[in-house]
Amino acid sequence: MIYPIVKYGQPVLEEKAATITEFNTPELTKLLDDMFESMYAARGVGLAAPQIGIGKRIAVIDTTTGEDPSQKIVLINPEIIAAEGSQTGEEGCLSIPTFRETVTRAQKVTVRAQDGAGTTFEMTGEDLLARAFLHETDHLNGKLYINHISPLKRDLIRRKIRKLQKADEWS
Ligand code: NI
Repeated sequence: MIYPIVKYGQPVLEEKAATITEFNTPELTKLLDDMFESMYAARGVGLAAPQIGIGKRIAVIDTTTGEDPSQKIVLINPEIIAAEGSQTGEEGCLSIPTFRETVTRAQKVTVRAQDGAGTTFEMTGEDLLARAFLHETDHLNGKLYINHISPLKRDLIRRKIRKLQKADEWS
């Protein structure tokens, strides 16, 4: 099932998501499948559960956008345990469509998370994958990439979105 993507302005995007305690359930398996399907449909490289209106600590990532199924990553209850270096580049978010901003992030990041079976693993990513780990983990803490840009730029985006909301072009 393809879920619609929740857009900036919905409270669920700015709330801390709930820890997952039950694994290997049909509901969780279905949700993970649906999250990948929804992410691919939206042509994203990452999707966090709050972006489909579900306040749970789950994110999916595929930096190949579906071209290489071996690159599918499930992060449940993820934590960033190491970050080093720096990269500066454009970043966007499915929940803030059409906008992109330059964001500086760590270049190499290690995440500790659980998979669908509840098994804890650690994974290190660089460049785009490092950015995805940080971006998606942020989502689960109620943070968006615009929290990492200047207040001036953030206000500009907020104002533009408010105009779109008034014109009924943002829902
Ligand atoms: Ni995002």
